[in-house]
Amino acid sequence: MPDILISENIIGAAVDAMSSRFEVVSLPELWKNPAELLRRVGDFRALIIRNQTNVNAAVLEAAKKLVVVGRAGVGLNNVDVAAATRAGILITSTPDQNAISVAELAIGMMISMARKISAADEDTKKGNWNRQRFFGTELYGKTIGILGAGKIGFLTASRAQAFGMKVLAYDPFISKDNILLSELNAELVSLEDLLERSDVVSCHLPATPQTAGLLNAKCFARMRPTATLINTSRGEVVVEADLVAALKTGAIAAAALDVRANEPPMMGELEALPNLILTPHVGAFTHEAQDRVTKAICEDVCRVLDGKAAMNAVNRVSAA
Ligand code: MLT
Repeated sequence: MPDILISENIIGAAVDAMSSRFEVVSLPELWKNPAELLRRVGDFRALIIRNQTNVNAAVLEAAKKLVVVGRAGVGLNNVDVAAATRAGILITSTPDQNAISVAELAIGMMISMARKISAADEDTKKGNWNRQRFFGTELYGKTIGILGAGKIGFLTASRAQAFGMKVLAYDPFISKDNILLSELNAELVSLEDLLERSDVVSCHLPATPQTAGLLNAKCFARMRPTATLINTSRGEVVVEADLVAALKTGAIAAAALDVRANEPPMMGELEALPNLILTPHVGAFTHEAQDRVTKAICEDVCRVLDGKAAMNAVNRVSAA
């Protein structure tokens, strides 16, 4: 009887090690076919996913033998955790393992926008030598506003500080005496304050009913016309049509998005904007982060199948 179903592209030494102990079926394209997932999931005790498999109530209902879902990543918006808990299915994730890589991408985007690296690269490869056109700005002495002061927000802020930037943070779930904020000498402010005072706004918020559409036309109108926006968290947080308008009218100077409201997205107006950098949700896609994520999720799934407690359980279920 097979034990573990992997429904997305997750490979590496940790998967090989897991396969030596359990029967693993790896179907990296299965997430694209929800009907096939529903048909197959009932055979397995464990399911390992990234962010594209929709583990909804119907899947969990069909998964009669399932004891654990391993989410190789941190966001849980593709998993119905409440339904899993009701069904007695444990969810584990990798809360910290890709945080450095995501923070590094946010910093890369910030530098690229400040020095127009993507645009200058594209232009120079056309045979041009437009030095005046690619005048940039320094980061030193500027202010970064961190939306969502969790692990990735903190790592981004601490790296920005190394450039001599001042740090503002908005997070409704932390208090002014938060130890990480104190370490960064960061100021906890309201969303409005952060938008008005930041030269760079970097978004690190999860997708929740409260954050969906949070960054909209009203927010862009509050930002400085010289400000830039970075989103490496979840696409749902940004109203894309409002961002298009803000970038076209100069309400803000530039933006960089690694994540989109729908992934993969349809080609649209965003793709045509010269003052926008787009990447295909690769924040966590480094060799180091993926090695950590894969190792952690495989080990945790094995622990659960061995009857041990998970290291990174997201929900609580009673022991089978
Ligand atoms: C995450 O949630 O861990 C990242 O967005 C990467 C991913 O979903 O695969």
